[in-house]
Amino acid sequence: MPVFRRLTHPFGQLVLVELRLDEAVDETSASLLVHLPTSASSLRRTNYLAGRLALMEALRHAGAEPHPIGQSPRGAPIVPLGFSGSVSHKRLRRAEGPSVVAAALVAKVEPGQVTVGVDLETKAPARPDIASRILTAIEQRGLVGGEVDWPRVLASFSVKESIYKAVDPLLQRYVAFSEAELTDVPAHWPTPGGAFVRALLARRRGEPSFELEAFLQTPAEDPDLLVSAVRATRRPH
Ligand SMILES: CC(C)(COP(=O)(O)OP(=O)(O)OC[C@H]1O[C@@H](n2cnc3c(N)ncnc32)[C@H](O)[C@@H]1OP(=O)(O)O)[C@@H](O)C(=O)NCCC(=O)NCCS
Repeated sequence: MPVFRRLTHPFGQLVLVELRLDEAVDETSASLLVHLPTSASSLRRTNYLAGRLALMEALRHAGAEPHPIGQSPRGAPIVPLGFSGSVSHKRLRRAEGPSVVAAALVAKVEPGQVTVGVDLETKAPARPDIASRILTAIEQRGLVGGEVDWPRVLASFSVKESIYKAVDPLLQRYVAFSEAELTDVPAHWPTPGGAFVRALLARRRGEPSFELEAFLQTPAEDPDLLVSAVRATRRPH
């Protein structure tokens, strides 16, 4: 049985869903897998299913009528008009066996003006060497070196992935890690109460510009997870 949890969130409805990898897929859940090729691995199917269940629950709490969730040609979930939704998933090793957890964030929005993105990461193992791929030169200046920087590096990575998910549906192009710059990223893990981070996205000629708000939190019941979320608001020309 999927386990559902809700986290208080400043941008909308945030739902976590955990599914065991060996859990059988019932008929209702099977109908949610329509966008997946039949050759998809069981990990991919479970990830996708957990994500769809989380999105549906978040949409329900946001006040949306039940509606099938689509998938854009670029891979983004398509939720009913008037809402923005995003999803992320991770594999976990629980004492009872492997499982996946998905996080979905849904906000009621003015279509085309506001979008949200969410990303889920496991805090361990530390991989501080990804810093040079993720951070700009300015962002790297604040680092001390090695594992002490890991909370800041992972938070930056996660916020940038959330930025990508929030703005990709509006920009419809690949956005590189170097295009976003973050400030005030905490050097320690965020509390369940969360922390805001400031983010800027370089604007390309002819493209809209966005005000970005980023929020990081550690779920109280899952201190090994990091959840980041971004709300992108289109600025008037
Ligand atoms: C697309 C990407 C962000 C997905 O992240 P990931 O860590 O691989 O996987 P996650 O579990 O966090 O997220 C997967 C979900 O992202 C969503 N997604 C995929 N492509 C997307 C897109 N173009 N726009 C918005 N959401 C997208 C999907 O909902 C997908 O889940 P689903 O297929 O089950 O519906 C990542 O693969 C990527 O390409 N990143 C590089 C670009 C980037 O992050 N740049 C930083 C810019 S500041």
